[in-house]
Amino acid sequence: MPLITMQYTTTADNMSNKKRKILVTSALPYANGAIHLGHMLEYIQTDIWARFQRSQGHECYFAWADDAHGTPVMLRAEAEDIAPEELITRMNTEHQQDFRDFGLSFDNYATTHGDANRQCVETIYNRLNEGGYVVRRTISQFFDEDKGMFLPDRFIRGTCPKCKSEDQYGDSCEVCGSTYSPTDLIDPRSVVSGTAPVMRDSEHYFVRLSEFEDRLQSWMASAALQPEVVNKMQEWFDDGLRDWDISRDEPYFGFKIPDTDDKYFYVWVDAPIGYMASFKELCDRTNLDFDEWWKPDTDTELYHFVGKDIIYFHILFWPAMLMGANLRPPTAVYAHGFLTVDGAKMSKSRGTFIRARTYLDHLNPDYLRYYFCARLGPGMADIDLSLDDFVTRVNSDMVGKVVNIASRCAGFIQRGFNGQLATELPDPGLYQQFLDQRDLIADDYEQRNYQSAIRRIMALADEGNRYINEHKPWQLNKQEDQQQRVQAICTEGINLFRILVTYLAPVVPFTASKAAEFLDIDVEEWSGLNEPLLGVSVNPFQPLMTRVDPVKIASMIDESKENLQSSDETSELDLADEISIEDFLRVDLRIAKIVGAEAVPEADKLLRLTLDIGGGVRHVFAGIKSAYDPADLIGRHTVMVANLKPRKMRFGVSEGMVLAAGPGGSDLFILSPDKGAIPGMRVT
Ligand code: MSP
Ligand code: ZN
Repeated sequence: MPLITMQYTTTADNMSNKKRKILVTSALPYANGAIHLGHMLEYIQTDIWARFQRSQGHECYFAWADDAHGTPVMLRAEAEDIAPEELITRMNTEHQQDFRDFGLSFDNYATTHGDANRQCVETIYNRLNEGGYVVRRTISQFFDEDKGMFLPDRFIRGTCPKCKSEDQYGDSCEVCGSTYSPTDLIDPRSVVSGTAPVMRDSEHYFVRLSEFEDRLQSWMASAALQPEVVNKMQEWFDDGLRDWDISRDEPYFGFKIPDTDDKYFYVWVDAPIGYMASFKELCDRTNLDFDEWWKPDTDTELYHFVGKDIIYFHILFWPAMLMGANLRPPTAVYAHGFLTVDGAKMSKSRGTFIRARTYLDHLNPDYLRYYFCARLGPGMADIDLSLDDFVTRVNSDMVGKVVNIASRCAGFIQRGFNGQLATELPDPGLYQQFLDQRDLIADDYEQRNYQSAIRRIMALADEGNRYINEHKPWQLNKQEDQQQRVQAICTEGINLFRILVTYLAPVVPFTASKAAEFLDIDVEEWSGLNEPLLGVSVNPFQPLMTRVDPVKIASMIDESKENLQSSDETSELDLADEISIEDFLRVDLRIAKIVGAEAVPEADKLLRLTLDIGGGVRHVFAGIKSAYDPADLIGRHTVMVANLKPRKMRFGVSEGMVLAAGPGGSDLFILSPDKGAIPGMRVT
């Protein structure tokens, strides 16, 4: 079919294509730890969106920062015996390196401990104060006399007032799920020193959130929020907006509140302001007009990508602060769910708590970017990284479908035609069919329905492969008189590949840039697709992406297990108070043989064990149900505390305790003696 000039179109060409001005952020990672794949889920989601916006010709910036302040950062620096400034500088460098190596296209990365942030925080606080939104009030809180500090809820543990489970957090119980105030805990302890905290008074600064209720309500109605988020907000409105405590006492690592000597801003005040500060740094560097982006009637757009755990801060506190300071509120806050690995919470002992760096040491970042993209939808559902599925998906979609089209065509064009493409497409209808999906795919990206975008793109990839299978260039190539046909078919194939790679460029930037080298054109701007690549030369084809090697996954998991013994963990060891040898000898530890084990059906965590300790048997309830199958335990030897006072529990009396290591849940390991130990032997 002769084709002279054909216009390839999409509906977007007919719409008025307004150039949008967009600022995108991710939640700031804390500066007291390494980046892990859970973080990367969010950062990749954000980056795909930012890159997509740029591919549509919009002006889009991605700016964020390290969250450098707060008690955990202060304590971690103390444990490492360095200044907090040194810790946060080191972390900032490491974080940025991880992000670059994952292909994140951020325009600026700041720290909340920087000058730009200090200025923004003070401006906002002063405006809130002048507006009459700040009040002072004395409150009573737990104080650690040993450490000389007030204790955040998370740094207090004790017995749950509801279910009486021991060693629960100061704000919520992991066993029964109830929430409470730390003062309700039975036998509270400071996590920092192990001592019993006392109540102490101190004056705190509060922002009167209730003043913002009307404005927040109308913001909620106008912002593009997910339905789950709107429901949550409505619940908070129904409960009534309480004053928000924005100050913390010394010692604290943060910014001082103006006109005070010993009050600091709570880390959640200066953290979101870090979004602004990071953008401010960018403006100062590139001559962007900062005020234009933050004035209340701006026509620029502001989007925050955050995890579902921190919505509260982003849809109440943050917009209220902005409103109170006469600045623009966010256009939307987009919340995502949590990452699990192989169906379970990331776990250090199973090796599924994978750091970004560990991943990068073994695997191509585009694999993970592609996999997350294929799993992400617009909602707040948790996302599972199933390692088998990861291998299958990446190999069959990216390598087997997309890259395959190019590799099947490139050789013929290179060898037979010196890289030169034909001057016409043999099947312009098929090219148009690929273009027809452009708006739908763009809309999916815009709505963060990435999994749908990927489904459409892979359906097109199937079409492309079908076309090549049907026309079999490898057979035609054997016939002298079919050479032009071969060139035409491969030209079609390479053009289809180019469309696919352009659609996928926001997802797999490293692969896209290799494809761009091969095609000798830019693959980032989608508008370029209106013109097929004809009559030009392409470069020799290099493998764009190799198959995922499962051996590398296994070594990544192995290495993540080793991380547990690394200095990092031991430096956080929090030992209990010293005891004497006499104290220790009062504990009668015995070798026990497990002769019976059964699940307690009414309890989530408990197994009922029957233990032979030589002179008789003991019945013990052990919270190891998620870690062990009862049948596997029978016949094993372990260690028990034999002189523990019997405790009456809901399901019967527990006559001792077996020893197990680990944080809980499925991460528990019961102790076993070496061969030869027999039931009843004393353990010393
Ligand atoms: N520093 C705060 C955010 C301040 S924003 C003004 C914080 N830091 S964090 O390091 O704990 O988390 C950073 C982001 O990563 C959050 O949006 C959080 O939801 C996300 N994730 C952390 N672990 C995650 C998973 N396992 N899965 C998905 N996202 C996770 O919160
Ligand atoms: Zn409880």
